[in-house]
Amino acid sequence: MRPPPLIEILNATIWRGGTRVFDNLELKIDQGEHIAILGPNGSGKTTLLMAINRELYPVAKQNTVFRILGRDRWNVWDLRQHIGIVSHDLQARYTATTTALDVVASGFRSSIGTHCENPSERDRALTIMAELGIDALRDTAFARMSTGQQRRCLLGRSLVHEPDTLILDEPTAGLDPAASFEFLARIRRLAAEGRSLVLVTHHINEIPPEIDRVVLLRGGEVTGDGDKREMLTPDRLGEAFGTSLRVHELDGYFAAVPDDRELRKT
Ligand SMILES: Nc1ncnc2c1ncn2[C@@H]1O[C@H](COP(=O)(O)OP(=O)(O)OP(=O)(O)O)[C@@H](O)[C@H]1O
Ligand SMILES: [Mg+2]
Repeated sequence: MRPPPLIEILNATIWRGGTRVFDNLELKIDQGEHIAILGPNGSGKTTLLMAINRELYPVAKQNTVFRILGRDRWNVWDLRQHIGIVSHDLQARYTATTTALDVVASGFRSSIGTHCENPSERDRALTIMAELGIDALRDTAFARMSTGQQRRCLLGRSLVHEPDTLILDEPTAGLDPAASFEFLARIRRLAAEGRSLVLVTHHINEIPPEIDRVVLLRGGEVTGDGDKREMLTPDRLGEAFGTSLRVHELDGYFAAVPDDRELRKT
């Protein structure tokens, strides 16, 4: 029997605060897929991830489907065992004094940094921290870490359950090139281990070669969904972001640069 899709969304209307972000959204992601979601500021990327993570719910309508791994209902605790998430919102919620070890171990309870008392959870958290190169920070307060170190702590937090799926909302924002490339190398290794990746990014050069499907969002509409090479074209990206650009490909990576050839002629 075919495994159920990771995410199956049909006719979903999703509000965030007083804004109707999606109306009749349709999207299916299979288990094991690696996908990138691209779109301008305000297009609905974070809202979509919040709905997948059950922090927001679609409006209850008869023809709405919003299933994760074939199930309509989840308790958040069970869901966290399957899906790990790294987001800025999460980063902002930690108190300044929480230590790296407590941030990582808080993933076991899906909480925000309670002190870790459980020895086996502590060992597991420390193993992951060693893998992510942050074991030396175990007693360092969150506020005393660089953005990249904080981001690695959150990646560690999302990995304690060894989830099959990782959802990353602009994981490299604010990181220098070395830190973002290192972070991406870790994500690539996780993909190679067979985890699904759902990556939201504004930097198309940071889409790892493992990601082969791209979804383009604009104003709450899916304006493109398909093979990376068909989506990361000047026309498609230009339309999605409302600007003229050129796209280059190098060894499975892509880069977008402004198309200012007209300007240069003048
Ligand atoms: N707390 C909120 N209350 C009301 N509306 C909101 C709230 N947060 C976001 N919105 C609105 O929801 C829409 C989608 O926002 P969302 O955060 O999903 O965009 P995004 O694609 O993640 O953008 P960005 O690239 O800037 O992160 C926007 O129109 C935004 O103004
Ligand atoms: Mg966002």
